[in-house]
Amino acid sequence: MADTTLNWESFESKCAACKACGLCEGRTNIVIYRGARSAPLMIIGEAPGESEDLQGKPFVGRSGMLLQNLLASYGFTDNDYHICNICKCRPPANRRPTPEEIKACKVLLADQFRLVKPKVILLCGSTAYEGFFGTKPVMKDVRGVFIERKGYQIMTTYHPAYALRNPANKVPIYDDMGKVRDKLTELGLMPPL
Ligand code: URA
Repeated sequence: MADTTLNWESFESKCAACKACGLCEGRTNIVIYRGARSAPLMIIGEAPGESEDLQGKPFVGRSGMLLQNLLASYGFTDNDYHICNICKCRPPANRRPTPEEIKACKVLLADQFRLVKPKVILLCGSTAYEGFFGTKPVMKDVRGVFIERKGYQIMTTYHPAYALRNPANKVPIYDDMGKVRDKLTELGLMPPL
């Protein structure tokens, strides 16, 4: 049943106390979000890495810098997006979170959706896709197209780390972010560039 007492304070306390899976044992900080609490765009990555675990904020390491440059190039400000991950705790040695860990964390993510109330969702990478839709994607087939689900406009793109491995991979991520930007304008949620 929906929690009618849900607000940011209760949500953050629930996150801080979470022991729903074993990842809680290795965390320095639980990583909840950065950007606006309520935003038209929600960007979802995989899981925190070392920098994120230390700072308690998502995408603050090398992938985060790339993501931030992309956002800036399309005129996004902190008020326009809410950045988070499918998993809120750092997996050991930056391994992928397991399906069980993702499932355990989805309870918190569901609350987060209710608080943020995004209209557009950008899933970064196959783990975010799998966590959201429950099936493994073929990234080259699913990326770059909007799917409408439960009133959300959902786009999948490659994880920024993919572009760190080869700078040419920035091109599709840049293009996909452009489509997200256009969609927000089309929905009247951001001014034209
Ligand atoms: N990669 C992610 O998927 N999320 C982060 O927060 C940082 C790196």
